[in-house]
Amino acid sequence: MKTIITDKWNRPLHDLRISVTDRCNFRCQYCMPADQFGSNFIFLPNDSLLTFEEIERLATIFARLGVKKLRLTGGEPLLRKDLPDLVEKLSRIKGIEDIGLTTNGFLLSKFAHDLKKAGLKRVNISLDSLNDELFGKINGRMINTKPVLDGIAASKEEDLSIKINMVVKKGLNDAEIIPMAEFCKKEDLQLRYIEFMDVGSTNEWKMDDVATKKEIYEILTKKYELEILEPAYFGEVAKQYRYKDSNLTVGFINSVSESFCGTCTRARLSASGQIYTCLFNGNGFDLRKLLRNGIKDEQLQERIIDVWLGRMDRYSEERTAVTNKSLPKIEMSFIGG
Ligand code: GTP
Ligand code: 5AD
Ligand code: SF4
Ligand code: SF4
Repeated sequence: MKTIITDKWNRPLHDLRISVTDRCNFRCQYCMPADQFGSNFIFLPNDSLLTFEEIERLATIFARLGVKKLRLTGGEPLLRKDLPDLVEKLSRIKGIEDIGLTTNGFLLSKFAHDLKKAGLKRVNISLDSLNDELFGKINGRMINTKPVLDGIAASKEEDLSIKINMVVKKGLNDAEIIPMAEFCKKEDLQLRYIEFMDVGSTNEWKMDDVATKKEIYEILTKKYELEILEPAYFGEVAKQYRYKDSNLTVGFINSVSESFCGTCTRARLSASGQIYTCLFNGNGFDLRKLLRNGIKDEQLQERIIDVWLGRMDRYSEERTAVTNKSLPKIEMSFIGG
């Protein structure tokens, strides 16, 4: 039986983002800057990660509470061993209609086939530049675009639905706004420009570095005519436009300049089993402890309901210079965006 729950601002629970590892093979400056996540950085030990069985059990309870959409994230989720096995388990859960993966694409050409076979429907692939040198600088590991482009090609071959995520940082990759649009048009890929967000406390975020939706839109519309579209569903993160010369869409994720907390239906499960009700929370509610202490499903469900019923988060709407500096915040690589 399905129980529909809404939070303090009347927002239903629709999606669960599941982080499967806090590790990543990239060191993107806006997420895991190399000087902060160096060889001494201590990642979660293996035994503190939720097992696939534990994730499956939790996702089954979330599905009973109205979740239809799951998204696997990291760090880099493809670093988690045997990820297709998890996808397979999750795709069997009653009520789950959509499973997506957010990845840097580096390992995707190796896994696309098995992921698709296991039931994955969609991949969101990060690509911030087509220029190898700049891309290498942004990912902090001097990795060129080739493996990511191969990952995109492999996903196309598997008929996975693809979105390309480009975080735009002023003075870093804003010159790539048009080349990325041209590339995605040519390849018939949906591109989303993402405003650089003040997540975590290591990426030295400042407002001056944010290329806002308005600025990106102005650059893009000098070259292409766009038509705004209605949201495809309640709580869609990206504002979508259609190129007037085709059926292809292009999106903007404007967490800084036009927040979308009012329709935020997402819960987040960290790799170590804490549930977060906002990307910008400092503390999660520990489900792993309950799981490993032998809690029954009914009680677990009650605890999750309590967390959602008490939810008041709307960080992006409340963001001020004060909240940005003073609140303890979780790192993006830990919670998966
Ligand atoms: P679909 O719309 O299902 O394709 O996925 P998505 O866009 O929600 O997920 P994805 O992992 O591709 O995230 C794209 C960008 O949106 C990332 O920068 C995320 O951090 C950001 N994002 C996703 N959900 C939220 C949210 O609830 N709040 C904020 N502030 N940013 C979010
Ligand atoms: N601001 C906006 N987006 C970010 N991402 C990572 N860090 C940030 C940030 N500071 C994006 C990644 C990926 C998704 C999970 O989140 O590029 O597409
Ligand atoms: Fe970059 Fe994603 Fe890795 Fe963060 S988790 S460093 S955004 S590839
Ligand atoms: Fe949801 Fe928090 Fe993002 Fe607002 S800032 S949309 S509440 S995750």
